[in-house]
Amino acid sequence: MAGTLEHEATSVLKSNGKVFDPAAVAKEPVPPVVASDDAIVENKREIVLGRNVHTTCLPITEPEVDDESTGGKEAFMAGVLARYRKTLIDRTTHHLGYPYNLDFDYGALAQLQHFSINNLGDPFIESNYGVHSRQFEVGVLDWFACLWEIEKDEYWGYITNCGTEGNLHGILVGREVFPDGILYASRESHYSVFKAARMYRMECVKIRTLVTGEIDCADFKAKLLPNKDKPAIINVNIGTTVKGAVDDLDLVIQTLEECGFSHDRFYIHCDGALFGLMMPFVKCAPKVSFKKPIGSVSVSGHKFVGCPMPCGVQLTRIKHINALSKNVEYLASRDATIMGSRNGHAPIFLWYTLNRKGYKGFQKEVQKCLRNAHYLKDRLREEGISSMLNELSSTVVFERPLDEEFVRRWQLACERNMAHVIVMPNVTIEKLDYFLNELIIKRSIWYKDEKVQPPCLAADIGSENCVCLLHK
Ligand SMILES: Cc1ncc(COP(=O)(O)O)c(C=O)c1O
Repeated sequence: MAGTLEHEATSVLKSNGKVFDPAAVAKEPVPPVVASDDAIVENKREIVLGRNVHTTCLPITEPEVDDESTGGKEAFMAGVLARYRKTLIDRTTHHLGYPYNLDFDYGALAQLQHFSINNLGDPFIESNYGVHSRQFEVGVLDWFACLWEIEKDEYWGYITNCGTEGNLHGILVGREVFPDGILYASRESHYSVFKAARMYRMECVKIRTLVTGEIDCADFKAKLLPNKDKPAIINVNIGTTVKGAVDDLDLVIQTLEECGFSHDRFYIHCDGALFGLMMPFVKCAPKVSFKKPIGSVSVSGHKFVGCPMPCGVQLTRIKHINALSKNVEYLASRDATIMGSRNGHAPIFLWYTLNRKGYKGFQKEVQKCLRNAHYLKDRLREEGISSMLNELSSTVVFERPLDEEFVRRWQLACERNMAHVIVMPNVTIEKLDYFLNELIIKRSIWYKDEKVQPPCLAADIGSENCVCLLHK
């Protein structure tokens, strides 16, 4: 593969004039083949928590005495960056597994790179640090408040570093509102939800899921009833990580009510990291709205929106935030966020995209993603490959490719026997065809000998979606 990090490491050593020993150059990490909770066995190499593996590394080298006059160091670094840029282009071209929209043009914002923009503190209370972008941040938050139907004077929110931070914040608000509450989350919830439970030392009850990946409300009910004496804090998924399943928010609320939980005895956080910004633009899709008894919603900004840096949006009700926040004299602001310093560039990127695309632009992009996802699923089926596409989703789940090199080439996220492609606005039919053609050729090699068969996915996506030897 051209321009890999392995290649970078080699060049660095050479251009520094240090001894080059090819055997010493670390190989690219080998992909995982079996995953368990604590250890991932990679081809003959095991990743164990607590042991760092230095696979690839661009060492820092001290400047030579004559570097300033010769410009040697600058030229060397320019070379490294140019090669890295090539790697990024290659990796962007062969990317299908993560929900990142890699199609954007933020050229107009390049002029702001010279500023250290930091929105530390509360977005609504200006701190003493003047190089901030709060005006953009609040504009973006107001747009989301309108999308999720909450009045400007009733919400509080901020631009986070990622969807994970949104979950950590939403669940923390729930915990502050109900210090003795139990956290309920479907077992297909993102790992950040269970991380929040561990961080806050909360009692956490995992709920079973349907084969689609959606929360099983019958099991939810069964697990709520013995705990009626304690308030409930619930994570509702607006798009699960692996299958893109959308939990039925209305049914979750109904289940709580049927179990005797009045609205002042539960707190719902909606994790919309993946699909929270797509669902509002899908015709006839259920609504995430603060008109319903929910406490908070979060999304990632680098996924469907296509920000070039990780970021996200978190909104909650202003009445809840007072329990959490503290004034900080040295900032002249209020501390109600998870992080201290906050990326002030991210709100500007979000503001720029929302202004350029608007509601109509997003609607068009969502429709394209759903159309292309259906195309991919249909083509996989035509080729006799087990696959599933949830109704409101652009996540196409299919059989895990046999060859981990192929998985790495296309950066597919895999779990058990499943892999998925998440169709984002930058994923065109041409790209899907390119991928499909490679997959079909590879499968004819992997499975040419009848002794090796494609995996059975009945347990993962249902026998109706599985076309293994047993189920076709
Ligand atoms: C459902 C869900 N929640 C939360 C996250 C975490 O988002 P981030 O990667 O922005 O931290 C993800 C990431 O893919 C996700 O799929």
